[in-house]
Amino acid sequence: MYQCHSMKILFLLMDRLWFAERDEMPKLAGYSLAVSFAPISCNILKNNCRFPLVISRRNKFSCRLFSTHALKAQLHDKPGVVSRYYLPPWFSVAPMMEWTDNHYRTLARLISKHAWLYTEMVAAETIVHQKDNLDRFLAYSPDQHPIVLQIGGSNIENLAKATELANAYCYDEINLNCGCPSPKVAGHGCFGVSLMLNPKFVAEAMSAIAASTNVPVSVKCRIGVDDHDSYNELCDFIYQVSSLSPTKHFIIHSRKALLNGISPAENRSIPPLKYEYFYGLLRDFPDLTFTINGGITSVEEVIASREAGAHGVMVGRAAYTNPWHILGHVDSAIYGTPSSGLTRRQVLKRYLAYGESVMGKYGRRPTMRDIVKPLLNLFHSEPGNGLWKRKADAAFKNCSTVESFFEETLVAIPDSVLDSPVTKLPPGRRELFANIHNLLPPPYRTGEEAVVICA
Ligand SMILES: Cc1cc2nc3c(=O)[nH]c(=O)nc-3n(C[C@H](O)[C@H](O)[C@H](O)COP(=O)(O)O)c2cc1C
Repeated sequence: MYQCHSMKILFLLMDRLWFAERDEMPKLAGYSLAVSFAPISCNILKNNCRFPLVISRRNKFSCRLFSTHALKAQLHDKPGVVSRYYLPPWFSVAPMMEWTDNHYRTLARLISKHAWLYTEMVAAETIVHQKDNLDRFLAYSPDQHPIVLQIGGSNIENLAKATELANAYCYDEINLNCGCPSPKVAGHGCFGVSLMLNPKFVAEAMSAIAASTNVPVSVKCRIGVDDHDSYNELCDFIYQVSSLSPTKHFIIHSRKALLNGISPAENRSIPPLKYEYFYGLLRDFPDLTFTINGGITSVEEVIASREAGAHGVMVGRAAYTNPWHILGHVDSAIYGTPSSGLTRRQVLKRYLAYGESVMGKYGRRPTMRDIVKPLLNLFHSEPGNGLWKRKADAAFKNCSTVESFFEETLVAIPDSVLDSPVTKLPPGRRELFANIHNLLPPPYRTGEEAVVICA
């Protein structure tokens, strides 16, 4: 079976030449080494736990990692060089403010080795104004590679400066947010999705960002804004940004944004999904790469999007609200590699070591509650989930350590759930894109081509 998967990977690598197209290969040599936190005992999790973390150093900039000085010293002193290549971003976890923080990403990486992880959006101004305090906003545990930093902003100088400051943290890609409809961002801040109305500005911003880093850059956008929602307007945006800047990868949230006062959450459910726009872009911009996003809720649907031609698939809410059943299948079903084979008990044991090592790192933060938050969805739809959540509510009041939180709550979950690795692929809409190629909008013609045809 693995032979078959390997063939599939080889074929897809040859087919898409993702990294080669993006001029990635020469930059990917790096090294990795294993580091262990001290063992922490926890009755409910039984064994001693040593938590090996893979540290990888990836580009020519010096790395500042989510680590103590001792860890940094080990990183730089270690001579063992192992070259390491990441698989392409066929699957990524969306940037989500207050959700895809360091803690969630640590959990996600324990479940999937290959998923690309996006940070929450960090405003360029925050990075620039907090330049003496950057670890708080940009540091991450090195096992989180491949990881993309999403930045937001509308001041080109600050976007460039923020990118430059972020270089020290060795992100694998810098992404510009052109999709956030929040009034704080798109209204007063005048960035996020409002930027889609000014493609020349986005191109200028992307050129400045690209000039400040040696990793690839990308844009995450919507399919439109308010009544600027025709396929041609979307194509104009993509055309201008890609031809006037080095941006060759776009993440397309397949709903337009409405800036008429509906909330960001409503903006993720009210405007209809138009996947046909996404697949139209694949047809009309064959030299670019596109990741589809919006409304994809199962691994079956991820597979279906890729089979219909998507270069990459980004999943947001489903990867947060059901991490085990989504991320647990990514390595095997999407990447054709063996999955970690870990059970949830083993994941929790490793997460505990992480949690204890970071608690209170920045004064009172992160708190036990911050650290435990991403775990609350780990038993989605499993027996004992309701009781675990009720016990968690009580434990937030009574417990001050992650270990005591586990002691108090995990009794709610049957051993059979805690001790089984990821098993069957959960059902999903495998036929979601079956008819998509019959629904595509008419092919895009650039403004210049249209003029020639009319002349
Ligand atoms: C809580 C939350 C916060 C989000 N924050 C961001 C963000 O910081 N940047 C961004 O580009 N999109 C953000 N999004 C949008 C997601 O990245 C994604 O585009 C959207 O949820 C649609 O994907 P989904 O249907 O798979 O969830 C956020 C979504 C949620 C639910």
